[in-house]
Amino acid sequence: MDHPPISASRILVIHGPNLNLLDRREPEIYGRSTLDDINRDLTDLGAQLGVRVDAYQSNHEGAIVDRIQQAAAGCDGLIINAAAFTHTSIAIRDALAVLEMPIIEVHLSNIHRREPFRHTSMMAGVVTGQILGLGATGYLLALRALAQMVRPTMAVA
Ligand code: DQA
Repeated sequence: MDHPPISASRILVIHGPNLNLLDRREPEIYGRSTLDDINRDLTDLGAQLGVRVDAYQSNHEGAIVDRIQQAAAGCDGLIINAAAFTHTSIAIRDALAVLEMPIIEVHLSNIHRREPFRHTSMMAGVVTGQILGLGATGYLLALRALAQMVRPTMAVA
């Protein structure tokens, strides 16, 4: 596997609470991919697209805010599945609002087909786009879209 050059654009992927349990957690809703599977597929696709992918998971709201603040310096684009914090966290929304880079919100499930408390995303008004309900494939589509945004001259297969 070829690795992207050191100077490659950097995409950060943030996974929120309980996503470390993927595969064991309600697989009929969230699928059978583990978080490691998803991160590995993202890294491999990033290598094909010429972007570097870093992944971070936390169950803690403040830790996610800290990681978003760090991203302002070192990243060119962000993919975030804030999981349950999507529906509750003004702090994460406010941290995202500071970033001057494309942000794609991803959800494995279609949150609008589920319980009413999942229908609202605090993030929606500050992200570039959303991908919902496509399972693990949604992360890969988000990475393709971001790769085009951060490297517009590069042909994305
Ligand atoms: C989720 C949807 C959220 O409502 C839920 O709390 C999650 C995962 C998704 O990827 O479908 O943990 O963000």
